[in-house]
Amino acid sequence: MPNKIFSGIRPSGKLHLGNYLGAIKNWIELQDKPDTERAVFAVVDYHGITTPFDPKTYHQQIMDTALDFLAAGIDPKKSLLIRQSKVPEHTELAWIFNTITPVSWLDRLPTYKEKLGETGGRYNHMGILDYPILMAADILLYKSNLVPVGEDQLPHIDLTNEVAKKFNSMFGQTFEPVKPYLAMGTRIMSLQDPIKKMSKTGDEGIALSDNPDEIREKIKKAVTDSGKEIVFDPDKKPAISNLMTVYHLLSQNSVKEIEKKYGGKNYSEFKNDLAEVVVNFLKPFQEKRKELESDLTYVEDVLMESEEKARIIASSTLTEVKQKMGL
Ligand code: AMP
Ligand code: TRP
Repeated sequence: MPNKIFSGIRPSGKLHLGNYLGAIKNWIELQDKPDTERAVFAVVDYHGITTPFDPKTYHQQIMDTALDFLAAGIDPKKSLLIRQSKVPEHTELAWIFNTITPVSWLDRLPTYKEKLGETGGRYNHMGILDYPILMAADILLYKSNLVPVGEDQLPHIDLTNEVAKKFNSMFGQTFEPVKPYLAMGTRIMSLQDPIKKMSKTGDEGIALSDNPDEIREKIKKAVTDSGKEIVFDPDKKPAISNLMTVYHLLSQNSVKEIEKKYGGKNYSEFKNDLAEVVVNFLKPFQEKRKELESDLTYVEDVLMESEEKARIIASSTLTEVKQKMGL
């Protein structure tokens, strides 16, 4: 079966290496595969408003995320690049799914519990609980069957399949099963605490837009494990193993090759080299991004054209869904 790809990222801050290695890198590989029939990538701005955001800067953040996608290699000739809130069918389908999904499928999800924990329960609104239903709607609206994500999103993919099955059984065969697409590096950890995943907040991550000096400084300050051998052992040496994963994914050296290369050397030598690997890797991305920043009408055109095409697919699915339900 040909691949129909969908994925999204919230515009909740600067994209970091975890986003790139866990998600966008795979998006780009998938958009280029000959058996990919279509790929839709979204700035999921409706998901982004489920956690605190600043309305004064939110528009800018949405555009920044779109710029990051394009600079990282999303090709508008091959893929659609959309803002979720510009394709209203996403929330329409989400409402329909709300009516067939038991609350108990949502309030048991680890992501829900984590989010409540993070905000001390202050943001216990319907949107947080309902977040995965909107995600299911994002995916199924385009009849997608392959979703490149980081492993933290796996429970949401399971839920998407449960919702699709329930819809099919209630109203007739409509949606195909959805598979996640994972690759090594799906969980890049914080540079300050290798037990936590790298996130957009704080300086425990490397933003794709960090300048060379910021990158060098952050890597220098990254925590390391006790002992001084450079060996890959995520259980016993989570910090150095995380840094080695980043090195491996950005340099094409295998983990074994890295172990060999740094056998007998110390952490700081390894870190100095890693910093240069990251700086060099991000250079073309940062150059492309600068170019795009000076041509925002091009970016706006890409988005509008994609959104128009997305609405054609989306409204066709929604018409089918509504017909099946007698709406
Ligand atoms: P988020 O930043 O939470 O909106 O995540 C956007 C995408 O990046 C999702 O597919 C996540 O699974 C992925 N992602 C986020 N943080 C990491 C990380 N530290 N390591 C790997 N993938 C990540
Ligand atoms: N929930 C995802 C995250 O937090 C973002 C997202 C929203 C998404 N809709 C999606 C990812 C659809 C893949 C497919 O990272």
